[in-house]
Amino acid sequence: MSFITSPAFAEKGYVILDSYDQVGDPKEWLDLEFVDWKSSGVTRFAPLASAFGEMECNGFWNHTPPRTDKDGVWVQANVDVAPILKARAEEPGANIGRCRVIELQPNDYTNAIYNLHQDDNNRLNPEGTGWIVRGFFNLSDDPSSVLILREDRFNPDTEVRIPLPAGAQVIVDTQRFWHAVWQVGPEPRYCLITSWESGPELDAYIEKYHGASNNVNPPLDAHVIEDAQAEVRRRLAERSATLASQGKKLADPVDPEA
Ligand SMILES: [Fe+2]
Repeated sequence: MSFITSPAFAEKGYVILDSYDQVGDPKEWLDLEFVDWKSSGVTRFAPLASAFGEMECNGFWNHTPPRTDKDGVWVQANVDVAPILKARAEEPGANIGRCRVIELQPNDYTNAIYNLHQDDNNRLNPEGTGWIVRGFFNLSDDPSSVLILREDRFNPDTEVRIPLPAGAQVIVDTQRFWHAVWQVGPEPRYCLITSWESGPELDAYIEKYHGASNNVNPPLDAHVIEDAQAEVRRRLAERSATLASQGKKLADPVDPEA
């Protein structure tokens, strides 16, 4: 027994869809209610679908009874002001788990690399059902910013950097990749993030919008990458030493977006 997955993800683990005409839409995300929720970097989240329709962002597996990242319940106060965002999340017709808008304050490449993490989307997900992947629809216009994916957390040769202009639409197996966003700024980034269940509905949606995995990384100076690698190693060693002095061990960062 194994999970139902999309063939579109088999090789690269991500797909980029046709760009969406974002400027044609009202900026619904500015009217949403955000809650403080620490993720990778300085963030807040506006939940559109949560475990029980409450204005909160916790992973569904952290509720009682715990369950996997499916069957999200719409948060009425937020979907009332963001009908277009709700409709975009619903368009594939796939089961939706967590659905929220993230607000990320500007950071730098080093901090983004330090914040790389894998999501925990498939905790408690029963085999034989669809693997959870996540859609990232960029709402603000951040053409110099990138979604960073790494197959290997500490190997920059595995790095994919996907630019984030308004309307960028990417679906990622975020449990497979180490990922984080480098938000250049100066304004915060807003992005609709939706957990979808893989299956024929999502496959058809990816095909309709010409999902492709042929991203070409925007250039980045090798020294910037080397410096970031060294600084991240230094910070992790420092944290590890601090924890060791308290008799604790440094754990891998898993799904800070839970
Ligand atoms: Fe994540």
